[in-house]
Amino acid sequence: MKRLLTVMLALVLALGLAANASAITVGFSQIGQESDWRTANTDDLCSAIEAQGWTLVYDDANQQQPNQIRALRNFITQGVDYILFTGVVSTGWEEVLKEVNEAEIPLILVDRMPDCADVIDYACAFGGDFVEEGRRMARWTGEYMKSIGRGEEEINVVMLEGTTGADAAVGRTEGILEVLPEYENLNLVAQQSGNFTRAEGQAVMESFLKSIDKIDVLLAQNDDMGLGAIDAIKAAGLVPGEDIIIVGCDSVKAAFEAIVAGEMNATIECTPLYSPFVIDAINRLEAGEVFDKTVIHPEEGCFDSVGGIEYAEGKLSVKAADVIDERVY
Ligand code: AHR
Repeated sequence: MKRLLTVMLALVLALGLAANASAITVGFSQIGQESDWRTANTDDLCSAIEAQGWTLVYDDANQQQPNQIRALRNFITQGVDYILFTGVVSTGWEEVLKEVNEAEIPLILVDRMPDCADVIDYACAFGGDFVEEGRRMARWTGEYMKSIGRGEEEINVVMLEGTTGADAAVGRTEGILEVLPEYENLNLVAQQSGNFTRAEGQAVMESFLKSIDKIDVLLAQNDDMGLGAIDAIKAAGLVPGEDIIIVGCDSVKAAFEAIVAGEMNATIECTPLYSPFVIDAINRLEAGEVFDKTVIHPEEGCFDSVGGIEYAEGKLSVKAADVIDERVY
C-alpha cells in the first residue's frame, strides 16, 4: 500500500512538472534568415525551447523592423511568458520594448543589443562583442600580411559591411577602423553594405572589382558575404584566397570548407549557439533568481589556412583544416 502511494505521488509530481513545463510559452522575434549563422541561431534556439517541452511562438521578420514591432505586440496580446528578441537594427525599439516592460514579460536579448537598452528593463542579454570581432579581423589581416612578407607592401583593402544600422555591422566597422591604422601598409579604399547576404556580397564585390584597379584584401563582416564575393572574384578571372585575401566573420562550416579549398583565408568566430545560456536563464527566472544586466559574450577563436597567426593579444589562430569536422553549423 505504502509503495502504491509512493508511486502515485511520483506520478502526480511528474504530471505536475510536465504540465508546468508546457505551461511556459516563449515568444521569439527573429530578424530573418539572411545567413548560415542566422539559420544556425534559429535552429539552435527553437529546438532547445521545444526540447524543454515549452511552447514556442516564433516569428521571422524577414529583415523588416515593422514586422518585429508587430510580432512583439502580438506576443504581448497572446500573454507569452518570456520574449526572446534580436533587433534587425539597433534604433527604434524604445516604445515597443517599454510596452513589453509594462506587460511585465521578462525580456531576453539575444545576439544584438537595442540602443535603448539603458532605458528599458531586460532580464538578461547574450550577444557578440562586435567591436572586438572587427578588431580581430583587422589584426589577423595585418599580422598575416607580415607573415607572408607583405608587411611593407602597400595593400588595398575593401570592406563589405553588414546591414546598415545593425550593431553587428556598426561594431565590426568600428573595431576594424580602430586597428587598421596600426598597420601602415593597409589602406581601406572602399566600404559598402552587402546586407549580410551572399547575393549582396557578390553584387557589391562585382562593383568593387569594376571600379577599383587593385584589390588585395577583402574584409567581409560575415562569412556569407565573403562566400558571395568569391563568385564575383572568380567571374572577374581572379583567384580568391590568392589574388585577393578574404577574411570573414562568424566561422560557419561553409567558410571552413572555403578555407580548406584555398578560396578564403580566415574567419573570426561569433557563436550563434546561445541556447544553453537562454534555457538556463529561463529556468533560473522560473526559480525566481534575479539577474544583473551583464551582457555575456561567448566569443571564441579565429580559424584560417595556416594557423598560428595572432588575431588578438596572446591569441593565435587555429588551422581550419584541423578542426573542420568539429564544426556543426
Ligand atoms: O548579429 C550577428 C550577425 O548577423 C552575423 O554575423 C551575421 O551572419 C548575421 O546576419
